Amino acid sequence: MRGLQLTAYGEAADVVRLVDVPDPGAPGPGEVVLAVEASPVDPTDLYIIAGVYGELPPLPHLLGCEGVGRVTAVGPDVGHLKPGDLTVVPPLSNAWVERVKVSAFWLRPLPDGDVDQLSLLGINPATAALLLSEFVTLNAGDWVVVTAANSAVGRSLIPIARSRGIRTVTVVRRPELVEELRELGSDKVLVDGPDLAVGIADATGGAEIALALDGVGGETTQRLLDALPVYGTLVLWSGMSGQPAAVSAPHLIFTGQTVRGFWIVNWLKVPGNPERFGKICEELAPLIASGAISLPIAGTYGLEQYAEALAVAARYGGKVVFHPNGRP
Ligand SMILES: NC(=O)c1ccc[n+]([C@@H]2O[C@H](COP(=O)([O-])OP(=O)(O)OC[C@H]3O[C@@H](n4cnc5c(N)ncnc54)[C@H](OP(=O)(O)O)[C@@H]3O)[C@@H](O)[C@H]2O)c1
Repeated sequence: MRGLQLTAYGEAADVVRLVDVPDPGAPGPGEVVLAVEASPVDPTDLYIIAGVYGELPPLPHLLGCEGVGRVTAVGPDVGHLKPGDLTVVPPLSNAWVERVKVSAFWLRPLPDGDVDQLSLLGINPATAALLLSEFVTLNAGDWVVVTAANSAVGRSLIPIARSRGIRTVTVVRRPELVEELRELGSDKVLVDGPDLAVGIADATGGAEIALALDGVGGETTQRLLDALPVYGTLVLWSGMSGQPAAVSAPHLIFTGQTVRGFWIVNWLKVPGNPERFGKICEELAPLIASGAISLPIAGTYGLEQYAEALAVAARYGGKVVFHPNGRP
């Protein structure tokens, strides 16, 4: 069968190859084989290809961080999935292949829906859901601020927060996105700038901000800290500006605020979290199937079109999705 393999770290055009790889064979106890129907190109894939990620796999490496697949065979003791079910390819399971054998213990059938959208569930919507639940206890009516809000993480977070009754101030860098994010359900949308903290206070009527989620870094991080109360919490989940997160030492000392980082890869390694991840998929799949979470798709491609697909993905203008077994 075919798969996309990374042969060295570098420019995608030079280091990614379409190769023949052995079929995964029959599933053992606790395993299923999935025919991958859709698998996106995430920034994570591009970082791994470039060799600039938090953890790099030994080479050669079969690529593809997430996706959805149709069950083709189940192991002897697997009763909760059957052939024909659509389910998530567990994150970081090498999904840019025709078939993959995975551990099935937390996998569940997905509802009917757009497979391209469902294929995006495991990294960005899941990260958005975890950012809202792993750091502070949020109650209905609480305010959360998120930057890089037009990203797949930000666009997922808006409907997830709404479904939990949490109110959002979303922050973008381009004014033309304000109306679009309002239509997605963000309570308030602001454009980043030196007066961000004042804008947040105006937007919420001075309400306390329960959590700040920063995907930008640079000067934006301190602006968010300025909007947080004493002992408030800010979580960095990306640094899209490419600049070090500017944090004033006196400010942190005098406010006792907490600055944390979050990386879903580490979170998934904690014992018990794969099962919790399964529960998150159960919460998110209906939001995706109903269209409440819908991420812009730039195009869909066969594995053999990988050069074009990776070039389009690198422009970050919507998600690129592979269909390893042809159009579903
Ligand atoms: N920590 C984790 O566990 C975790 C999980 C998932 C994703 N991530 C990371 O989150 C990031 C976004 O991923 P994604 O798939 O959501 O990406 P995406 O959909 O391509 O969105 C990228 C976003 O970054 C914004 N951006 C780009 N350059 C910027 C700059 N200089 N200043 C401010 N904003 C800038 C873009 O703004 P415009 O909309 O204006 O173009 C866009 O909204 C990636 O770095 C990814 O690795 C982290």
